[in-house]
Amino acid sequence: MLEDSFGRQFHYLRLSITEACNFRCQYCLPDGYQGPSSDSFLSVNEIQTLLSAFAQLGTSKVRITGGEPTLRRDFLDVLHLTAQTPGIERIAMTTHGARMSAHAKQWKDAGLHQVNVSIDSLDPRQFAAITGQDKLKEVLAGLDAAANAGLDVKVNTVLLNDFSDARLHRFLAWLKEMPVTLRFIELMETGDLPQFFNQQHQSGGPIKQTLLAQGWQPIVKRKDAGPAQEFFHPDYAGKIGLIMPYSKDFCKSCNRLRVAANGKLHLCLFSEHGIDMRHLLADGDVAGLKQFLIECLGQKHETHYLHDGNTGATTHLAMLGG
Ligand code: GTP
Ligand code: 5AD
Ligand code: SF4
Repeated sequence: MLEDSFGRQFHYLRLSITEACNFRCQYCLPDGYQGPSSDSFLSVNEIQTLLSAFAQLGTSKVRITGGEPTLRRDFLDVLHLTAQTPGIERIAMTTHGARMSAHAKQWKDAGLHQVNVSIDSLDPRQFAAITGQDKLKEVLAGLDAAANAGLDVKVNTVLLNDFSDARLHRFLAWLKEMPVTLRFIELMETGDLPQFFNQQHQSGGPIKQTLLAQGWQPIVKRKDAGPAQEFFHPDYAGKIGLIMPYSKDFCKSCNRLRVAANGKLHLCLFSEHGIDMRHLLADGDVAGLKQFLIECLGQKHETHYLHDGNTGATTHLAMLGG
């Protein structure tokens, strides 16, 4: 069992399998993917060792993230081996969704349960301006294919300062018939984009007030639920979530650990450098890795200290997978 010194337990691993991405979201990789950093991404064997150690320590849910995880040529192998790891009960993936319409069924058959897809605007021109790719149509077709394949679908929308009432209304109209959970995410500061953050960060608080005024009702969180506060409305097929890392007490329910594309362990999305475990992974040393992870957990801080001088994630989120 992985537990930290504040009594929080960690059953959920977010594993970034590549930092490569062919989108260029303004808040993540505005200049596009610049090629591999000095550390190469984990091999399938290293991933197997990693997952075995985490699963033996109680991890039951794995989210595969990137960059864009589906760009890895051996992506299906990664899915298969995750599904075959004893103890892993739920496999999720975060993707831009542009390749999903052709592949959703294949992914589901390989063991995937859930996809989270970024859609920052339902206006094709605005979508292209934010992501650098004119692919809203493909992504929406991907959502349909995912739902038809039996995957659970969530949609992520990052709140930027130009997020207007008009944009909110368009999302709400869409949710009337669309049975997905749409999460509005507060823009998080990353060390490489401080100016963008200062210009664009918007709090989720006012949206929460608008939703409550329109009859959206809070859903009581399950004990093992993630960071989103969720809402339902009897007239809508879809639900809404708010992810507000800048709100008080956000970290109290933290239940996840992260491994970046270069194989470093991050105890928090905002932890400084990540902890190197590559030697243990390369040796296939599951027992040594388990011991190492248990020791590392003692170093996890109580909160991200974003209110208290921490200026955000040091690496871009494509390396860490959000
Ligand atoms: P579920 O597994 O469905 O609960 O989804 P999730 O919200 O954990 O995953 P997803 O990859 O869709 O993340 C959505 C956004 O929430 C991303 O921008 C993440 O960076 C952010 N997020 C998720 N977990 C944390 C966290 O522990 N801390 C912070 N600050 N942000 C998080
Ligand atoms: N702040 C908030 N969310 C971000 N994402 C990427 N970068 C940021 C950021 N700086 C989101 C993407 C994707 C998820 C994995 O992380 O929209 O949905
Ligand atoms: Fe790619 Fe996701 Fe980053 Fe957008 S947020 S550039 S889709 S990794």
